[in-house]
Amino acid sequence: METIKIAGFGGSLRKESYNRYLLENAVNLMPENSELKILDIKNFPLMNQDEENNYPENVKNFKKQVRDADGLLIVTPEYNYSVPGYLKNVLDVASRPYGDNPFEGKPVAIMSASIGMLGGSRAQYHLRQSCVFLNMIPVNMPEVFVTFAQQKFDENGKLTDDMTAKFAGQLLNNLVNLARDIKKIRH
Ligand code: FNR
Repeated sequence: METIKIAGFGGSLRKESYNRYLLENAVNLMPENSELKILDIKNFPLMNQDEENNYPENVKNFKKQVRDADGLLIVTPEYNYSVPGYLKNVLDVASRPYGDNPFEGKPVAIMSASIGMLGGSRAQYHLRQSCVFLNMIPVNMPEVFVTFAQQKFDENGKLTDDMTAKFAGQLLNNLVNLARDIKKIRH
């Protein structure tokens, strides 16, 4: 069976980000015949339309890796009930210039982790709204909201919560199945 390639990005910029831990743990939760590669989103320039035809190498490289992937995984914190500015900026920058949107038609799974009791749900719903304009195909179920994230990873960032691993694994399985189906239809 052909290997389905998923590109993942997100986390926060801080060293001990629970969301980055979640993204890194997802590598080991991928189903058979699939792989998850984590993309670097540090050092993205701020969106400036004057520069959108002249992007630096890291942005060009990010866009190429998104384009080459069969599907995407975005793992995000929630900042003030929404998507963190730097992550929204990554989507905005990479989606430009008009007509050169690498997210177009990509299946995408979303997860979030928060130290609060709603697990970043409000950020996920805002992110899903951006997915509409980017013309992505989000996987709806299961929703993975990692609540009280400080209790769910050990000091090395390893996921220790079985329920989170179970639901995250199901979501990744659904993402890979959708990406495989879409690939078949398009080829
Ligand atoms: C937060 N945090 C937070 N949590 C939440 O559940 N809802 C929210 O709206 C916010 N808002 C918020 C704003 C800002 C600017 C910061 C820095 C933090 C807390 C957040 O869940 C917590 O810091 C997580 O640990 C952030 O994710 P990482 O960095 O661990 O991946």
